[in-house]
Amino acid sequence: MPAESLEDLFLIELKDVYDTEHRLLGALDELSQQTTQEEAQQAFEEHREETEQHIRNLEQAFQALGEEPEREECEGIQGMIEETEEFFEEKEPAEQVANRYAIGAAQKTERYEITAYENMLQWAQEADMDREIIEAIEANLADEQSALRDLQRMAEEFDYQQIVAV
Ligand SMILES: [Fe+2]
Ligand SMILES: [Fe+2]
Repeated sequence: MPAESLEDLFLIELKDVYDTEHRLLGALDELSQQTTQEEAQQAFEEHREETEQHIRNLEQAFQALGEEPEREECEGIQGMIEETEEFFEEKEPAEQVANRYAIGAAQKTERYEITAYENMLQWAQEADMDREIIEAIEANLADEQSALRDLQRMAEEFDYQQIVAV
């Protein structure tokens, strides 16, 4: 079916981000396994729980639109996840290098999600969609922004002395 309206565009992006969130469950598990830094590990685990809620919020949005929840392969996030897996498999990172990399990898996914949700929120508002839909997207966006802020702080406070070449 050709995409002709803002509602069509919203639904396409909704299916995409519904897939993104599912893939991130596994990705956050992987990141938490690859890191030895307790604070980051905890952040990944907490955000994984939030991600489960994001999935439920998106299901609410599908329902409010009268649509069955459906995943459409998000190649963007899949690429990011593969890149991260390859890094850990192929680069034999030292412990603190792996720790810092994991924070950066998570930051990238948050930025990706934030952009998707910012657009969707704008489209939902422009198309005057139900309050329920707008609130679902707003809730997810707020969590992603807060997750990104936490990661940015961890990146700033990281003990770089451990990985600076001498
Ligand atoms: Fe999310
Ligand atoms: Fe996220």
